[in-house]
Amino acid sequence: MEQLPALRERNIVLIGFMGSGKSTIGNLLSKKLYRDFIDVDTYIEKQQGMSIPDIFREKGEETFREIEKEATVHLCEKERLKILALGGGAYSQPEIREVCMKYGIVILLNLSWETWKERLPLIQDNRPVLQNKTLDEMETLFYERRQIYSLNTLQIDTDGKSEEAAADEIVHLLKLGWDWYPTHMPDERGRDKNLK
Ligand code: S3P
Repeated sequence: MEQLPALRERNIVLIGFMGSGKSTIGNLLSKKLYRDFIDVDTYIEKQQGMSIPDIFREKGEETFREIEKEATVHLCEKERLKILALGGGAYSQPEIREVCMKYGIVILLNLSWETWKERLPLIQDNRPVLQNKTLDEMETLFYERRQIYSLNTLQIDTDGKSEEAAADEIVHLLKLGWDWYPTHMPDERGRDKNLK
């Protein structure tokens, strides 16, 4: 049977809607936890030698999703002890969800629609999936994605928090899990060794 990575060795996988702060918070976490940070979109851009909007324009969204799936699955399977930030649409692919849960610790950066709307002017121009969409269509996508993001993930609410505070909250959450699990692993009869 395949040996899955121990909790402490797992990649920390950040997910969330476009503009939820995955890259900024990922970079902060990388410093706080002394781990390398990999932004999957940046990885894809280097691998393909073109920007994400150019991939959408020249190859189409379907091809982008294939490239995204291959890159994300590869990074999740091969990397350990990293911080990964996924593109906002990646978690909609079942294969990506599966591999993230299997090898990583998935954390959703949750923000409200109201907060996201305020950020829209900052991100709209270089996000192909937002082009030619009305605000109503964006809202529908926002809530559809939110349901998918919350499948089996830890989450933090980022509304009204600085990126620094959000990163600190994640570190706190992770340390609770890391400190608790190694000493409270059930024995072969399912009993908690420390509670005997
Ligand atoms: C996408 C989000 C983008 C990028 C691509 C598609 C999406 O990443 O992967 O433009 O479908 O939500 P960010 O979430 O980093 O903006």
